[in-house]
Amino acid sequence: MEAQESIPRHLAVIMDGNGRWAAQRGQSPLFGHRAGVDALDRMMQYCKDVGIRFLTVYAFSTENWSRSKEEVSGLMSLLSFYIKNKRKKLIKESIRFRVIGRRADLSENLQKEILSLEKATEKGDFTLLVALSYGGRAEIVDAVNAILKSGKSENMTEADFAQYLYAPDVPDPDLVIRTSGECRVSNFLLWQSAYSEYYFAPELWPDFNREVFNRALESFSSRKRRMGGR
Ligand code: FPP
Repeated sequence: MEAQESIPRHLAVIMDGNGRWAAQRGQSPLFGHRAGVDALDRMMQYCKDVGIRFLTVYAFSTENWSRSKEEVSGLMSLLSFYIKNKRKKLIKESIRFRVIGRRADLSENLQKEILSLEKATEKGDFTLLVALSYGGRAEIVDAVNAILKSGKSENMTEADFAQYLYAPDVPDPDLVIRTSGECRVSNFLLWQSAYSEYYFAPELWPDFNREVFNRALESFSSRKRRMGGR
């Protein structure tokens, strides 16, 4: 299905509220993250249903390393489990899996699993980008360091610079949704979201459903996108 003008081509999501959702049920944060994976599966289906081509999700930030050992290792195991168990589904449903972030921070094993899934799904026509050990400032600093390493010394345009970001071929997000009522950007896609619309939903991420999705899309399509012009 071809994306219509009122439908974002690229949707990005800050999946916030897993911990609170779990706490409301007397459970540890990991219980919420597991429910968050189900919400992500639902979200991918909603996106495909309306013709969105790219979905980026904030799964683990550069700041998340400071969480408890249990939560960090639990999240890493959940990612590894996801990569192994969703392989068939992703291939069957033509979903391309990609990771953005500081991969070198991840265990060697997880890095290998990621590479293998990226390779196995590279022909998919819907793209899921998972931000892992990701920070918007880190991404910009990594781009600067890559430029320094390349020995480039001429002046650059914004377009030249953007070629050094983690996924230079992916269009900027048109819409960024953050759940759980928090109204912050939290170091997510700082460069790419310069002109993105934001939608803040009060629902916690594990409660994300089609109704919230439709509300976000309605809000998106009703805004006049002037991109700073007139
Ligand atoms: C924020 O909620 C969420 C995270 C830090 C992790 C999100 C991860 C997943 C949904 C699962 C992993 C993803 C994949 C692709 C397998 P929070 O814990 O900060 O919530 P809180 O603010 O209520 O504590």
